[in-house]
Amino acid sequence: MAKAFAPGKCILFGEHAVVYGHPAVAIAIEQGVNVSIEKFDDWVIDGKSFDHSKYPHISHILHDLFEYKGEPLKIEIESQLFSAAGLGSSAALSNAMGAALHKLIKPQEKLDIIKLAKIGHSAEAAAQEGRASPTDTATSALGGCIVVSGERLTGTEHVFDAELVTPEGKRSWSVCKAILPEEIEDVWLILGFTGEASPTGKMVANVADLLSRDPDKKSIMTNIKEITQRGLDALSVGNFEVVGMAMNECHEQLRSLGVSSDSLDRLVEASKPYSLGAKMTGAGGGGCMVALSRNPQRVSEQIEISGGKPMISKLVSKGVRLI
Ligand code: PMV
Repeated sequence: MAKAFAPGKCILFGEHAVVYGHPAVAIAIEQGVNVSIEKFDDWVIDGKSFDHSKYPHISHILHDLFEYKGEPLKIEIESQLFSAAGLGSSAALSNAMGAALHKLIKPQEKLDIIKLAKIGHSAEAAAQEGRASPTDTATSALGGCIVVSGERLTGTEHVFDAELVTPEGKRSWSVCKAILPEEIEDVWLILGFTGEASPTGKMVANVADLLSRDPDKKSIMTNIKEITQRGLDALSVGNFEVVGMAMNECHEQLRSLGVSSDSLDRLVEASKPYSLGAKMTGAGGGGCMVALSRNPQRVSEQIEISGGKPMISKLVSKGVRLI
């Protein structure tokens, strides 16, 4: 049997602005997806017959990327992530599947994490009509804190470049690691799920519509870019008070873009008294918020009291691994 784990992610800064070429900062979380595979006498996934249309990521990895023609497989998936919540559950699934399959097929060969991130990105794009940024898959594969941008930012270490031919033309990104302090003090991420699905495509389209109706709103993107750089600089020197302030500011900018929601705002406000900062994370319209805090239990309680589902994660978590 081959087993692998890949973490989910949350976006700390730069969601939506990244669609317009600005940087996004994403961070791997402790929770993720476990995949185990073994050779079997029939194709089975989670105890049921494998319906390829229900698992486009897995199907693409198996057939198009690995060109798997071996014996049927029994695949088990166990996810610790809220799904459709902006936590990168499909990227984590792609990466864990790619890693487990690599172990099964090529047990002698070392797992190439960058190749895996690219495989995961291709699987995401195939499942999303050719449109996907490498943010989720790169963060889940590499772990730590990842900066995805049209340009290389100072204070980051370049890891690889990603390209994708989308229905709108060719896109390219620079994927970098943020350089974080060696010792991270006692700060935690607390994710709060609103219980509502986060419709990424719809939210991105709403923003595009808003900007075409009201071009003055484009300044919000520049504001988010500046906040992102400030947040990243503070993160790299371990100044978490400033990171938190930047998160609060980022939330306000995202609110003025119209991508927050009443439930996201409620969870953010409830978390603030016990947090360094809090904001929605990902596409918005539902999904999750994230708080940075030295008092994670208190923030979790606040999220629960306000109707959300909390999850606590270390600030720095490792990327995909064989288990
Ligand atoms: O909610 P998520 O994790 O799918 O994040 C979407 C982030 C956006 O910037 C809104 C879209 C994108 O493609 O980067």
